[in-house]
Amino acid sequence: MTRPGTPVRGRFITFEGPEGAGKTTQAARLEAALRARGVAVVSTREPGGTVFGERVRDILLAAPAAGRPEVDPIVDALLFNAARHQLVSEVIEPALAAGRTVICARFADSTRAYQGYGGGVPLETLARLEAVATGGLTPDRTILLDVPVELGLGRKAPDDRTRFETAFDVSFHQRVRNGFLAMAVAEPTRFVVVDARGDPADIARRVLRTVGPLFADAPAGGEPNPASVRIPR
Ligand code: TMP
Repeated sequence: MTRPGTPVRGRFITFEGPEGAGKTTQAARLEAALRARGVAVVSTREPGGTVFGERVRDILLAAPAAGRPEVDPIVDALLFNAARHQLVSEVIEPALAAGRTVICARFADSTRAYQGYGGGVPLETLARLEAVATGGLTPDRTILLDVPVELGLGRKAPDDRTRFETAFDVSFHQRVRNGFLAMAVAEPTRFVVVDARGDPADIARRVLRTVGPLFADAPAGGEPNPASVRIPR
């Protein structure tokens, strides 16, 4: 039973998807829409979201050093999970415990999709790393913004491309996309697949509809009159 004055745990919402799916845009739109309804929101991203994690992000996304060997996908998996552990303990868990909703652009499913389905690291190995990094934390809702690989890759300006866009070929990204879709089929309660082609405002409305049920009776993290939080359908 919850003690009086103890905030009800916040909701944890993640955005996932292949390159160029519009996660950053849609996460910002969802944050604005929820805030407008009085929901206390903390937005973050992976890799990153902490000082340590942003440093790890720089290492992970930098172009490979010319003439040096490629790192094995397990090395990437270890680093993504190291940054994840820091983010969970420093940002996500405290926010959820304080009753805030957390929106995170990418989370553990990205490691399964990229280093697992894409890079070939066994999914059982990744599951063990994930359990350590997250302590068992699982999103309440994962919005998979799905976009065809060529379309998504083409959306990024050449200057914005990371190592994952320049050093990995189209078939890698196809495996990533298929991996995300396979995870969505395997966990239909947690995942919602949203077609990420088309008008961002339409996509944002669809995203908002998918998270509405999470807020049907939830207090809004200390904001006044939480019962008035209503997500339009
Ligand atoms: P983005 O968040 O700006 O899309 O860039 C992050 C890149 O890192 C993207 O190419 C996906 C990749 N990535 C992984 O390969 N594994 C992971 O676990 C995460 C979080 C991201």
